[in-house]
Amino acid sequence: MLRRLHHEQPESFAFSPANLKWTETQIAKYPEGRQASAVIAILWRAQEQEGWLSKPALEAVADLLGMDYIRVLEVATFYFMFQLQPVGALAHVQVCGTTTCMICGSEDLIGICREVIADAAHEISADGNFSWEEVECLGACTNAPMVQIGKDFYENLTADKFRQILTAFARGEVPVPGPQNGRYAAEPLSGLTSLKEFESGRDAHNASVALAVGFGDTIKRIQGDEVPILKPVKARKAKASGNKTAGGAAQKPAMLTAANNGAGDDLKQIEGVGPALEKQLNELGIWHFAQIANWSAAEVLWIDENLKRFKGRASRDNWVEQAKILVNSGDSEVVNEMGAKDV
Ligand code: FES
Repeated sequence: MLRRLHHEQPESFAFSPANLKWTETQIAKYPEGRQASAVIAILWRAQEQEGWLSKPALEAVADLLGMDYIRVLEVATFYFMFQLQPVGALAHVQVCGTTTCMICGSEDLIGICREVIADAAHEISADGNFSWEEVECLGACTNAPMVQIGKDFYENLTADKFRQILTAFARGEVPVPGPQNGRYAAEPLSGLTSLKEFESGRDAHNASVALAVGFGDTIKRIQGDEVPILKPVKARKAKASGNKTAGGAAQKPAMLTAANNGAGDDLKQIEGVGPALEKQLNELGIWHFAQIANWSAAEVLWIDENLKRFKGRASRDNWVEQAKILVNSGDSEVVNEMGAKDV
């Protein structure tokens, strides 16, 4: 397949200030004179910001790294993960068409793409929101057929389910990624045959899906100022302890009309709270860890019942215990989802 720069190009490209700062952290990983080693990571960030790589973007990356334009073009044209033409404003859909997915129905999924998005791959839908392409194996063969949309995998798809997912994205929703047929991960469809003792205590989602749910938006363009999904070590332990808040008569907790001193806490530090849920909590009048830490069981129940699209999260993820730790902990020991210490 010939990979060329698109015939229509924007006038310019600029990283967002936060993304530009992020590129400095990538370049700093390499010794003096080896900055070019950061080229793939930085090209990827440019694509995450814009959706695709334009000529000005390639030139900006080359200038940043002190590389010849042709060298950056070589990288961008070699790797198919780089999009060299505009993609749908909302989402670009990558349908795996390799053997396992093909046997399990990827051609039906491509048929849906042709019907719902556009007849040809890399063509943008009439409303400008979607584009699609067929790609080679994405490494989720046990959960075939599957597609990647934005940052996440949607697996064990049927044509109907895939159509519903596209419709949901078009409505502005973000469907939960991962297996779409009731499987937790890649276990037998009929259920676990071994290690059954771990089934009852496991989290609501497998690790990949939990990360996606925590981030809160599969198809969001990356501007670099997103709050990383950081989890205080102790808060993670509190959640893992499985202390669930008891039920009972629901009672509305005291709410604030605005954040104290004009700045709320970063509620996303509570595991299970992403940007969408934080916004909803703020709209309810919840801005601080201290508010959550003081909820009674009845108040947790009220919150559980009054969260739109996230019912039951406060007790499921033990927000009260997590918030108590966040209130009491002055330490900055945090880990990211990969378990690595962060700064
Ligand atoms: S064949 Fe589709 S993910 Fe591997």
